[in-house]
Amino acid sequence: TYIVNDLCIKCKYTDCVEVCPVDCFYEGENMLVIHPDECIDCGVCEPECPAEAIKPDTESGLEKWLEVNAKYAEVWPNITVKKDAMPNADALATEEGKFEKYFS
Ligand code: SF4
Ligand code: F3S
Repeated sequence: TYIVNDLCIKCKYTDCVEVCPVDCFYEGENMLVIHPDECIDCGVCEPECPAEAIKPDTESGLEKWLEVNAKYAEVWPNITVKKDAMPNADALATEEGKFEKYFS
């Protein structure tokens, strides 16, 4: 599966949702997640994200994000249509420690 990590937080460009062939993105207040059981590993979303927040879970060190994606994909609503990015998305795209600061 692919996962969304903290680079999405407070940005939510949502380019990713438009290209997913199985519509497996779910939206929280500050970030999106991918449902790991629904993702078919096609990889088309990865280059679409301006924040580079989407990675294959085969990369090392992403266990935390796989857990976050699996947990919240079960409770957040599905999102399939692109919308405006969050305010100041470009400025916040490279901020560090966003999970600790903003995740809810
Ligand atoms: Fe959707 Fe493919 Fe991205 Fe998985 S890798 S979330 S199936 S676009
Ligand atoms: Fe987030 Fe990137 Fe999609 S910022 S909403 S994962 S395009």
